Amino acid sequence: MKLDRIFIFFILLLLGILFYWVCYLGYNQESYRKQQTQTTDPSIVKNILMSEEKHKNLGLQSSPGFLYSQPSLLVGRTDVVSVTPWLAPIVWEGTFDSSLIDSMYKKKNITIATTVFALGKYTRFLKEFLESAEQHYFVGYRVRYYLFTDRPEEVPEIKLGEEHYLTILKVPSMDRWQDISMGRMEILEKLTKSELASEADYIFCLDVDAKFYGPWGVETLGRLVAVIHPWFYGYPRDQFTYERRPESQAFIPAGEGDYYYTAAAFGGTFKEVHELTKYCREQQSIDASKATEAIWHDESHLNKYLLYNKPSKLLSPEYLWRDISMRTSQVKVIRLSHVAKNNEEVRQNA
Ligand SMILES: *[C@@H]1O[C@H](CO)[C@@H](O)[C@H](O)[C@H]1NC(C)=O
Repeated sequence: MKLDRIFIFFILLLLGILFYWVCYLGYNQESYRKQQTQTTDPSIVKNILMSEEKHKNLGLQSSPGFLYSQPSLLVGRTDVVSVTPWLAPIVWEGTFDSSLIDSMYKKKNITIATTVFALGKYTRFLKEFLESAEQHYFVGYRVRYYLFTDRPEEVPEIKLGEEHYLTILKVPSMDRWQDISMGRMEILEKLTKSELASEADYIFCLDVDAKFYGPWGVETLGRLVAVIHPWFYGYPRDQFTYERRPESQAFIPAGEGDYYYTAAAFGGTFKEVHELTKYCREQQSIDASKATEAIWHDESHLNKYLLYNKPSKLLSPEYLWRDISMRTSQVKVIRLSHVAKNNEEVRQNA
């Protein structure tokens, strides 16, 4: 009788050890597999690790003796929402102290890469875009513009501020603006895993037919940064112009959706922007193989990606307004705004 019990006890113990061992082995194999897929391209991994390492070592630090307004828990913007349900900040004027965050980011010696596409007649927007950027965009920080164009000879001479650099990269001409808009995802996918990735800490991808009117600074930096589209910020989600046809990869079913994001401005770390642009390029080519095109092209795919891969920071429509002459009480500072343009004239096939 007693021997039976001891026997059963040992069997259970053995089963326990066996179970533990199997689980442990499974886990190890999984992490081994993860490592394997991650090391497919050593240059990507190196760049990602380098930029992550840099951030880890440099948390935001403020200096003793640096004075700024006392942060309040009771007084602040109440006319707009400044945090998402997944606790990402939504940046509006009045939600941050630029002197404080400047003082903290200045210590970090960061570089911001910025891509702009100016193909065909869009080169006409370059002068205003770059000149206004030089007045308002990351003034006092290292900025590297990467300008993609099929007409390098039309790039205007702009005097750049200290530590602001412009690299012109020639790309083939494309006829349809939809193709330009979508082809850009593939170019960005490649750029974000190239050697250039080690030259900067953050990247923003901006439309060229826009002009800066107010400061755009380090308050916009984050892991994955999305900008609220200036037309739809007050709309119910079912009126967003998401792709609603299930045959497109960008399909978002009714009842789903957070915000409607613009494809005219987005950014983050190189790793995150690489994932986003890779996704959009892949989904677009699946659509193309079925002779489908999402209703708003790369913007539809971007919205789907950001619905399921939540951005870590959102920028309010201050960061991409629709028309400088239009005002609402919520937008207290217009920082970047689309310039009025005649689509018929600049889009070759609009
Ligand atoms: C700041 O960054 C630049 C470019 O990445 C580098 O050349 C420079 O040495 C850095 N300066 C300091 C003080 O770390």
